[in-house]
Amino acid sequence: MQYDLTDNITSIDVNGAAIFGVFTDKNIKILAKYLKTTDIAKIKEIIKKSSFEGKINQSLCIYDTSNKKLEKIYLVGLGEKNKYSEKSFLKAVSALSKICKNNNLKNIFLSIDSLLTDKIKQDWAIRNISIHINGIDYVYNETKNKTKIKINYKISKIIFISSLLKKSYLSSLKKYFQQGVAISSGIKLAKKLGDLPSNICTPTYLAKTATDLGKTNKKLNIKIHNEKEMKSMGMNCLLSVGNGSEEPSKLITMKYNGGAKNEKPIALVGKGITFDTGGISIKPSNGMDEMKYDMCGAASVLGTMKTISELNLKINVVGVIASAENMPSGSATNPGDVVTTMSGQTVEILNTDAEGRLVLCDALTYVSRFKPKHVIDVATLTGAVLVALGKVASGVLSNDEKLTEMLMKSSNVSHDYIWELPMWEEFQSELDSNFADIANIGKRYAGTITAACFLSRFTEDYSWAHLDIAGTAWNEGANKGGTGRPVSLLTHFLLENAKSL
Ligand code: BES
Ligand code: MN
Ligand code: ZN
Repeated sequence: MQYDLTDNITSIDVNGAAIFGVFTDKNIKILAKYLKTTDIAKIKEIIKKSSFEGKINQSLCIYDTSNKKLEKIYLVGLGEKNKYSEKSFLKAVSALSKICKNNNLKNIFLSIDSLLTDKIKQDWAIRNISIHINGIDYVYNETKNKTKIKINYKISKIIFISSLLKKSYLSSLKKYFQQGVAISSGIKLAKKLGDLPSNICTPTYLAKTATDLGKTNKKLNIKIHNEKEMKSMGMNCLLSVGNGSEEPSKLITMKYNGGAKNEKPIALVGKGITFDTGGISIKPSNGMDEMKYDMCGAASVLGTMKTISELNLKINVVGVIASAENMPSGSATNPGDVVTTMSGQTVEILNTDAEGRLVLCDALTYVSRFKPKHVIDVATLTGAVLVALGKVASGVLSNDEKLTEMLMKSSNVSHDYIWELPMWEEFQSELDSNFADIANIGKRYAGTITAACFLSRFTEDYSWAHLDIAGTAWNEGANKGGTGRPVSLLTHFLLENAKSL
């Protein structure tokens, strides 16, 4: 896709569809620069006769004007001007992206001026337009034969038309647009991995995906540890989860060295349970298919690694994925079994369905060897986070207030929302066990917090935050599918840390 910035439509070498944002005041003054007075009068008349009120999610298509470069003009509703916010901007951009796709628009003239107010920063706007525009071509076809969706939609050219942005902004536009390209590419990878069924997306498949990704950038080095190697490192807790499965468990390490040699890395640790039956503590069968998404933490780590490596970000990042399949069988772990973790602490596995924390704890111990500046784990860890925060926000629990603050800031910028839950010491005694150092489940309440408390026993040596994405990683119902969250949040956090935002 090519993109450019111009103030003068007539100088452009292609014809295309123009898109303008319009508030509920239906002021179309901004179009006057590109059209004759008679056209403006005609458009006003068309608006009057239409049901277009400038509300969010409304749009109007206008044909035939005196400017022959503009094959069609789309007016996209922005809502009330005095209520305009980043949220309304994002809704409008999502709507206009769908218009582009549904109408197979190839060359697009996008009036950036009509979408900006003093509340919207232009760099942020360009990045977000790019995330949406480059994200709309995601389709899942992997396991379809007769019902394959044709992927023939590609935008050829997007030309930002603006009299506010000077030609000298073009290099910044390029930078922020490319950030959006890379973020959407990471999101699409995460969605795809989530959507793939567990008979394809196994721990071995995730390892292969990482290995392939490593071939695309010299700065990205991949190491896969197999079960034998994990055993010798003492990762019995991780291994106990895959015991019941025919699929071998994998520990995937992705080292991205974009920063200075001596700079401490930021570590991302993903839960990669490629299917969670619950194990011997088996789940009810209704909706169990959704447990193919239990590797979405891993998918978001892979997606984020892809994004930062496409951006050649000047930062050191280590991505670690703890991957296993949680199955019941004669060789599965039984409730009440006690295992020794890599940290030396013993765990009484009271419920084999609380397996995410069991794979993560060893990965969190393992990651300390990289002397990380911060560690962020990402996991579809508890159903309880859906009760607390629904499908809107991921839960964040941390042992470092400053890190939480930084993540909250990235959440606000990316609109990939997170919300903090407390991890006070009062919750810790829930994990007391008569037979081991810790039990793997709490009692009845505050399931998201007790899960994080469990992880906190393995993260005392470094600055750490846990993201529970069980509510945000996929959509249910007719739109069932991976969301690619929190790739955007994590990337924004890393961009901020690399001072590239
Ligand atoms: N993968 C699930 C969490 C989950 C549940 C994600 C629903 C998405 C939707 C996790 O492994 C799990 O089973 N957690 C249990 C923990 C319980 C046994 C303490 C849960 O949340 O019920
Ligand atoms: Mn489970
Ligand atoms: Zn799980």
